Amino acid sequence: MCTDHDWINNAVRKIEADYQRSADTHLIKLDLPSVEGIDIYLKDESTHPTGSLKHRLARSLFLYAICNGWVGPETTIIESSSGSTAVSEAYFARLLGLPFIAVMPKSTACKKIEQIEFYGGKAHLVERSDQIYAESHRLAEELNGHYMDQFTYAERATDWRGNNNIANSIFDQMQLEDHPVPAWVVMSPGTGGTSATIGRFIRHQQHDTKLCVVDPENSVFHEFYRTGNKAITGENGSKIEGIGRPRVEPSFIPGVVDEMRTIEDAASVATAHWLEKILGRKVGASTGTNLYGVLQLAGEMKLRGEKGSIVTLLCDSGERYLDTYYNPEWVQTNIGDLQPFMARLERFEATGQLD
Ligand SMILES: Cc1ncc(COP(=O)(O)O)c(C=O)c1O
Repeated sequence: MCTDHDWINNAVRKIEADYQRSADTHLIKLDLPSVEGIDIYLKDESTHPTGSLKHRLARSLFLYAICNGWVGPETTIIESSSGSTAVSEAYFARLLGLPFIAVMPKSTACKKIEQIEFYGGKAHLVERSDQIYAESHRLAEELNGHYMDQFTYAERATDWRGNNNIANSIFDQMQLEDHPVPAWVVMSPGTGGTSATIGRFIRHQQHDTKLCVVDPENSVFHEFYRTGNKAITGENGSKIEGIGRPRVEPSFIPGVVDEMRTIEDAASVATAHWLEKILGRKVGASTGTNLYGVLQLAGEMKLRGEKGSIVTLLCDSGERYLDTYYNPEWVQTNIGDLQPFMARLERFEATGQLD
């Protein structure tokens, strides 16, 4: 427990000053003539200082932990992560001069490990993604540190009513668009925290927007959503880094989700590759998952003769994954043939339908 008010005040001030110096992320409108009248937007979270949507979460988790008295001047911060959150937390740990250890599966992208180390953090690798939780608890006990536990606290560390959260920012940036209130927001869950914030914000603001959550293969979220069984676990980790989990995470709030879909891994990776043609830069695979869900919804809206807007997130940049999702050999071995989905995406460009 930390009751040192001077240290707490100074730590909060440093984080708030860092925020004050930062700009918001862009909302990019995609040009897709085959679905005219259905406008698609990407909230580009790759432009945060630490390169992903997890910059917002890391800031919130640090403020939450500091204001709860869980972190003091000598506390080692420990986190379980698939990498992105750890990169962002390493940044904030350095800002506060605190030691940081990230517990991650050994499959984590090398670029993320390099970035954690760049910020002075340590990477502690385990064999499988379901081992990160127990190992983090163990390390926290051994070092008398603080386990940040994004999977538990993501949904409550962020102020879902507003206060510049991601949903607040999206709805503000949409104000002058043809369809300012999106028909759909689409998001894939890792902790589930971003979906929880967006879903709660939509309800609190009384918008008609629906939230579609898109889940990769090997994730238990979708089955939990269908069955309500919280005890389901998965053997194989998700191959789409950052999203999909082998257990039902406490931050995944099913009540705010209007619809869930499972997106095949090959569809996610193919869509990330396809988007490069339109955007002129590479994105991570979870952005591909998000966008494939968006394209499905857009195709269905077109068939029903509906107009409107759909917003999703560009979660992080593809530069982090040059040796995996952008390496043809890795893709062939780990994901399989992308061609059938590339053909569907080309069909979408021509007809506004994926099949
Ligand atoms: C690249 C990437 N995309 C999406 C997500 C999912 O976000 P959330 O944890 O808020 O559900 C994460 C979370 O770690 C991520 O790293």
